[in-house]
Amino acid sequence: MQQNAAPGPGEWAEFKKKIQKSSTLKDLETIEQELFGRKSGAMTLAMKELKNLSPEERKDKAKELNEQKQSLVDHLEKLKDELIKPDSAMLVKSDSIDATLDLPKKEQGHLHLVHEFTRQVEETFGRMGFDVARGPEIESEEMNFNKLNVPEDHPARDAQDTFWIKSNKKGKDRLVLRTHTSPVQIRYMETHEPPFRAIFPGKVYRKDADATHSPMFHQFEGLMIGENVTLANMKAVMITAIRELIAKDTQFRFRTAFFPFVEPGLEVDMKWKGDDKTKEGEWLEVVGCGMVHPNVLRNCNIDPDKWQGFAFGFGIDRMVMIKHRIPSIKSLFPGDVRFLRQF
Ligand code: DAH
Repeated sequence: MQQNAAPGPGEWAEFKKKIQKSSTLKDLETIEQELFGRKSGAMTLAMKELKNLSPEERKDKAKELNEQKQSLVDHLEKLKDELIKPDSAMLVKSDSIDATLDLPKKEQGHLHLVHEFTRQVEETFGRMGFDVARGPEIESEEMNFNKLNVPEDHPARDAQDTFWIKSNKKGKDRLVLRTHTSPVQIRYMETHEPPFRAIFPGKVYRKDADATHSPMFHQFEGLMIGENVTLANMKAVMITAIRELIAKDTQFRFRTAFFPFVEPGLEVDMKWKGDDKTKEGEWLEVVGCGMVHPNVLRNCNIDPDKWQGFAFGFGIDRMVMIKHRIPSIKSLFPGDVRFLRQF
């Protein structure tokens, strides 16, 4: 009998204390080995000893050892859990993002000035209750000219230097790259019941090219129709828009002008601080406007005896040039981020 060689309850208690005192997973592994190692673990050896006992003794001893073993395993597992938790907490800390750190600078884009401005236009007019709508860039002659009271033989057609599109469409159905956003007025009036107010931004095309003209440019049209809409309302809306979109102290002037789709017609010039050597001088023509011609209302099945209102067409690129003091419209086309980033 080698009973004395087997560890007694006192020794198991020592092991438990040792477990309790461990501060690392590594310590626990060592103790686990000391207890349950296949060759010389204390518990392994104690279990082996059982076979040397008498059957009764063996039964009692085995029960005691199993209880001790379970209790030791519980102790080990519990402490392992506790030691693992702070470990993963540390990992969370070391892996977390430090939002105060400066990241390397990344190349960033810039919204194009024309689009940035168009968004501001939509916002400004939106606040004044204007809807936003868009029309096609390829228009019929009917929409671009005829319904706007510009008949075939009217000199206004020449003034616009139209790009005609080759197609088998004939007469008033002939296709053009729209020369202005005014045809969207027609499309809007034909599909909406007055009273209404709306703006129509978009690209337009004319055979023109110099410091203040380019073959493609941007406009936004405006239209307000109601029972008592007057020229005074038009001036109020336009002045509010100009001051909000360009600057409070923008200098502008209204001049009478002729456009076949309005009567009376006006033009607004703005003081251009960009470059006074260009051929247009200090005043730049930016807006055409007026009271919608009764013929145009009639062409859209709106009764001019009941409804009246105003329309206007702003040149977006020119407004951007005035706002940002850009001397040539051509700077707006390459989309060079080094240029755009200045604003
Ligand atoms: N469509 C004209 C142009 O492009 C501008 C214009 C003038 C628009 C008078 C209007 C208006 O709505 O009433 O030259």
